Amino acid sequence: MKEIAKRIDGMEKCHGDILEKIDKIENSLEKFRNGGNLQDMKLALDVFLLYMKTTVSAHKKEEEEVLFPFLRSIDHPEKVIDGILGDHEEIHRSVGMLDIIRKMDNWTRDEVESGVRGLVETLREHVKSEDELLKIAREKL
Ligand SMILES: [Fe+2]
Ligand SMILES: [Fe+2]
Repeated sequence: MKEIAKRIDGMEKCHGDILEKIDKIENSLEKFRNGGNLQDMKLALDVFLLYMKTTVSAHKKEEEEVLFPFLRSIDHPEKVIDGILGDHEEIHRSVGMLDIIRKMDNWTRDEVESGVRGLVETLREHVKSEDELLKIAREKL
């Protein structure tokens, strides 16, 4: 059980980090909205997307391989886990879409804004729901 407690700590820590990165990209978006430089926004988006494709992707894998099986083993409702897995797919799709938008030369402010906002909102809600699940898992250790 010690091992899983450590993994839960790590996942919680990663959630804190994700929320910080969300604040950061939102700040960049705000500057961009207020007439900020396109190049700066592209750079901020690159950094954020890379983070999503590396750190967050590995984090997602850990949840699916460690946290969700543990939740199933304590009979946590499958419906809840399904919902969370659905979020993972949605987040993956949004990252892919933003990646495509990022590579276009003629991207519009609206496209970038709605893309980033959609992803950030889903991600924030997702982290909140998962923090609840981590709490439940911890109580059952
Ligand atoms: Fe997740
Ligand atoms: Fe997570």
